[in-house]
Amino acid sequence: MNDVIQTIMNHRSIRSFQDKALSDEHIQTLIESAQAASTSSFVQAYTIIGIKDPLRKAKLARISGNQSHVITNGHFLVFCLDLHRHELSTEMEGLNPSDLQQALESTEMFMVGVIDAALAAQNTSIAAESLGLGICYIGGLRNNLDDVSALLKTPNRVIPLFGLSIGYPTKINDQKQRLPLANIYHEEEYISDDELLKSQLKQYNADISAYYAKRTNGSRAERWTEGIASKLKDTKRLYLKQFLESKQLPLN
Ligand SMILES: Cc1cc2nc3c(=O)[nH]c(=O)nc-3n(C[C@H](O)[C@H](O)[C@H](O)COP(=O)(O)O)c2cc1C
Repeated sequence: MNDVIQTIMNHRSIRSFQDKALSDEHIQTLIESAQAASTSSFVQAYTIIGIKDPLRKAKLARISGNQSHVITNGHFLVFCLDLHRHELSTEMEGLNPSDLQQALESTEMFMVGVIDAALAAQNTSIAAESLGLGICYIGGLRNNLDDVSALLKTPNRVIPLFGLSIGYPTKINDQKQRLPLANIYHEEEYISDDELLKSQLKQYNADISAYYAKRTNGSRAERWTEGIASKLKDTKRLYLKQFLESKQLPLN
């Protein structure tokens, strides 16, 4: 196994960091790594906003449901879908804004931006982990994107998607075992065998339950399917559709 694969395979989210800032050199390396990712049709439809100010981090932590690792870390990044510069580019090329509205507001362009941002974020994460740093994605920002957008002054056609806490780890959990490879990887065709899937998930439930019990000294031992059911029982963040519309991205 080479060093890159070893770094990838060693991943686990870190939720406890030293209060020690990353150097500007490290930050630059991480952002350049993000930019090296593939990007649909070369559109580079994302922007990354770095947060150093403790007060701003505290506000983002509150929005994210009081996650302490949003405050105490080495650096905090917010990954945004960004179609603002594309609107400007077409204006520079003399196109009429009303002619592009449909394209800019398409589900296709939204997917392009989300995929681009995710690829950039994962490159950042692997680069950080290869430097001995830890990371934790923060989807909790989407609890209130109106507040995030106001705090970061993001313009129309820019949607904050998630955060990334990066820093020097102080606590490293055991790795979380993934689903069996056969669940995730199918060859030639999608395999739909629900009976087989259920029996595999039962085994996986036992493994994940044991993982949580060990990690929490027995105070938590939920099954994987239990966690999924509890997540899907309540519909969350239904305001996002309105938020997209307010940022001139009503998807068509
Ligand atoms: C887009 C995204 C958002 C996430 N949001 C949060 C979050 O808000 N808080 C948190 O502690 N972990 C968050 N995570 C981390 C996941 O919980 C974690 O990756 C998952 O449980 C697997 O654990 P592992 O990364 O340690 O292997 C997020 C992960 C992703 C990819």
